[in-house]
Amino acid sequence: MVRPHLSLNFALSADGRITSIAGISSGWTSEADQERFHRLRVEADALLVGRGTLEADRMTLTAPQNPLRCVISRTGKFDPSHPLFHTPGGPIHLLGTEHAPRKIKDTVGHHSTLAQFLERLHQDFGVERLHCEGGASLVRELAEIDAIDEIHLTWAGHTLFGGRDAPGLTGPPGDFLASSRHYQLTHFESLTESGECFLSYRRA
Ligand SMILES: NC(=O)c1ccc[n+]([C@@H]2O[C@H](COP(=O)([O-])OP(=O)(O)OC[C@H]3O[C@@H](n4cnc5c(N)ncnc54)[C@H](OP(=O)(O)O)[C@@H]3O)[C@@H](O)[C@H]2O)c1
Repeated sequence: MVRPHLSLNFALSADGRITSIAGISSGWTSEADQERFHRLRVEADALLVGRGTLEADRMTLTAPQNPLRCVISRTGKFDPSHPLFHTPGGPIHLLGTEHAPRKIKDTVGHHSTLAQFLERLHQDFGVERLHCEGGASLVRELAEIDAIDEIHLTWAGHTLFGGRDAPGLTGPPGDFLASSRHYQLTHFESLTESGECFLSYRRA
């Protein structure tokens, strides 16, 4: 598959969860994590999130270089009143995999598989670096098609969430991937003040 270089950024609790059972993610990590979150965006030609994360975190996907703002859905049911559609920034691309996305002013709609969308971003829109900020269902499919080149994690070992159905990086507990994906550590930084660690990995 010809596609952009794809990076992920996630915060993980001590028990490897990305969110509590209540579905709250923002606000439970540190100021340093928030700064890194924004720093990682600056290198991207495009940002990508699932519709669940867009809704839960009220994301507007902005950065100084105005990257493309991409959101994926199966149903294509995007809410036109969401702040994303009312905040200046890069061009908005909406992907509906099972149903074409609802038509919303000033957005580009796509109806294809995730893999085809990645190819299209690269070939038709010149995206070299695509940065994904969640959520877990999206990461699960990216891992299935083996399209994750880089993983940035904030290990927030100060918090335990528990929760039988609470998602980890590849979603709620479920089937194994067809084969494990392996990554090499490229960066490790411990932050004693916040009790967190920054980790970066590259596909081995
Ligand atoms: N800790 C962290 O760093 C972090 C990062 C990101 C998110 N989160 C948290 O994670 C939770 C959201 O997780 P989630 O798993 O629900 O999020 P998600 O993957 O962002 O959203 C799920 C929805 O996105 C669409 N989607 C996802 N994968 C798809 C695929 N392969 N093909 C087509 N559509 C796809 C579907 O939308 P439709 O329903 O429209 O079909 C699906 O219902 C939130 O609580 C959020 O705050 C935490």
